[in-house]
Amino acid sequence: MADGNPHLHDQSDPIDEQHVRGKFASRLGFMLAAVGSAVGLGNIWKFPYITGENGGAAFILIYLACIAVVALPALLVEFSLGRHGQTSAIGTYRKIAPGTPWWLNGLMGVLAGFIILSFYSAVAGWVLKYMIVGIVDGYGTYTKEASGSTFGAFIVQPVAPIVYQFIAMLLTSVIIYAGIEKGIERASKYLVPLLGVILILLVVRSVTLPGAEAGLAFMFKPDFSKLNATSFLNAVGLAFFTLSVGMGAMMTYASYVGKEVHLGKTALQVAVFDTGVAILSGIAIFPAVFAFDLEPSSGPGLIFITLPQIFAQMPMGRLVGIAFFFLIFIAALTSMISIMEPVVTWLVDDLNVRRHLATASAGVAIFLVGVPACLSVDDASVLGGIKIPFFGGSLKFFDLLDTVSQNFMLPLGALGACLFLLLAWKRGAAIAEVAGTGGNTNSGMLQLWYWCAVTITPLGILALLVHGVLGMIGKG
Ligand code: PFF
Repeated sequence: MADGNPHLHDQSDPIDEQHVRGKFASRLGFMLAAVGSAVGLGNIWKFPYITGENGGAAFILIYLACIAVVALPALLVEFSLGRHGQTSAIGTYRKIAPGTPWWLNGLMGVLAGFIILSFYSAVAGWVLKYMIVGIVDGYGTYTKEASGSTFGAFIVQPVAPIVYQFIAMLLTSVIIYAGIEKGIERASKYLVPLLGVILILLVVRSVTLPGAEAGLAFMFKPDFSKLNATSFLNAVGLAFFTLSVGMGAMMTYASYVGKEVHLGKTALQVAVFDTGVAILSGIAIFPAVFAFDLEPSSGPGLIFITLPQIFAQMPMGRLVGIAFFFLIFIAALTSMISIMEPVVTWLVDDLNVRRHLATASAGVAIFLVGVPACLSVDDASVLGGIKIPFFGGSLKFFDLLDTVSQNFMLPLGALGACLFLLLAWKRGAAIAEVAGTGGNTNSGMLQLWYWCAVTITPLGILALLVHGVLGMIGKG
């Protein structure tokens, strides 16, 4: 459904004129952009390997529960705040509760975006490299013996990974540079459906391999004996990360949406698609892993070390491998734009920087932080020997950025947004914002959402944080 006159703001590139904010031209465009943000490395890289490490089906069940009762309500909190504010995350807190320190929650989100993107773009660069390997040489040399060391040797190189990271950041910046409608919305409209098609083809290839049943059983027959407290907390953390909740990315996207959109429906659709992609990624990966008698619990190397061994052996493996890494790259790209947009929106809305200049400076700054991140991935990396003290232990720079942003800043940001809803905003205003101009504010679902968002969601987040801190102290 298009808004009244989607092209009013379209003449002579006014997104670069100050005070004219861009806008999603349609509800579908907004939904696809939000799905593009949610579906990313979290679904196709993290979800399969974390599921693999936590025993499969039983973990998936807790993950689904966490999406429904913890992450989805928090997503809707962000959506409602963002559309109400119609400005950056920081500006939104200031607008609703002027003269209070709540805006610091928005500032933490902008910083988190900066930090997450600097290492996320490094991993996106590896994905790009693996796609190009497939195109140029194929995966023939990625044997059981060589695959791990080939990956290890690549990520510690001083130049090549940075070049790939630079390309990933450049593509992200180009899309952001073009604006909300012409950049983010247009890219999402093409890339997200394309992602869906490739994923389905990969699922068909994987489940038709001889011996695939064992992988399906691993995913769908729960064995609860494999679960422990950590599995539960892993599931909560992953649920936040995968739905892009906690740093104001979804808040920023929603600030570009018209009042006619029912945010509750969109949030539900985003959660359903996001979860669907995670499950389908598992179905694209585990049956193939089992069919070739490989290890499902090989950790972060699952897609870079284990899968190329499969592509080296399976019929049409080269083509499947290229398609697979292309799929992940698209997913990463549409997430990267959503991680960068809050930084750019903040520069434009709060500091009055022109959008094009804001994009260029944010892109360069994030890339510069990304360079030491990329050079500190492994102990053998150029900066891998430098350890930064953290909670009694010490971390490499890459791990520090990852841990601080994902395990602390995102949960704290989401907790802050839920508490803001409870303490600083009015229940009626929040529910009316979610329903939009045509929606029913008396709906039981919306009452349930509000109740959840001010009780179960913050409690779940607190449990995650306490566990994280105790775990770090214990390790230190
Ligand atoms: N949801 C993305 C993924 O699953 O890869 C990652 C992400 C995007 C996290 C945007 C946070 C965010 F604000």
